[in-house]
Amino acid sequence: MKKQNIIFAALFASLVMPLSMAMAASSPILDEIKKQAGGVEFSAERGKTLFSQKFTGGKPDTPSCTSCHGKSPQNTGKTRAGKAIAPMAVSKSPERYTDAKKVAKWFRRNCRTVLGRECTPTEKGDFLTYMMSQ
Ligand code: HEC
Repeated sequence: MKKQNIIFAALFASLVMPLSMAMAASSPILDEIKKQAGGVEFSAERGKTLFSQKFTGGKPDTPSCTSCHGKSPQNTGKTRAGKAIAPMAVSKSPERYTDAKKVAKWFRRNCRTVLGRECTPTEKGDFLTYMMSQ
């Protein structure tokens, strides 16, 4: 191998590979949900729809995720009691979706509140994929 090629290979390994790995939005929690969903491809677009869509099955005063989390995942949300909720976008709140128990607890509670049922693994995966892309 020529010297330039070796330098290029080293550069590629140090710069491009970590970048592409970060962009794949992989996390142990998402991997687990993917297993539960039977390996379907998650969609950030569907996750965005789930986040902003209005449902009728849950509590009337919170018809959508945005009722508490705000219209944009980039911004701070607010509970019904007026307490601030840190942004849902991973770029703004890097600690999000790293604690499996916390993720499971809030999906259960919030999906019941908004949809009147638990979210399916595909809905959860779509939601997380969207938030990890934000
Ligand atoms: C009634 C208010 C409310 C609604 C509506 C709501 N959430 Fe939440 N959500 C919260 C609060 C409060 C927390 C916990 C505080 C925090 O994580 O900052 C939370 C946390 C979460 C978490 C955990 C995030 C983490 O850091 O691991 C997920 C996932 C979540 N919500 C998903 C949803 C989804 C999906 C919807 C719509 C189906 C939704 N939420 C609707 C109030 C709400």
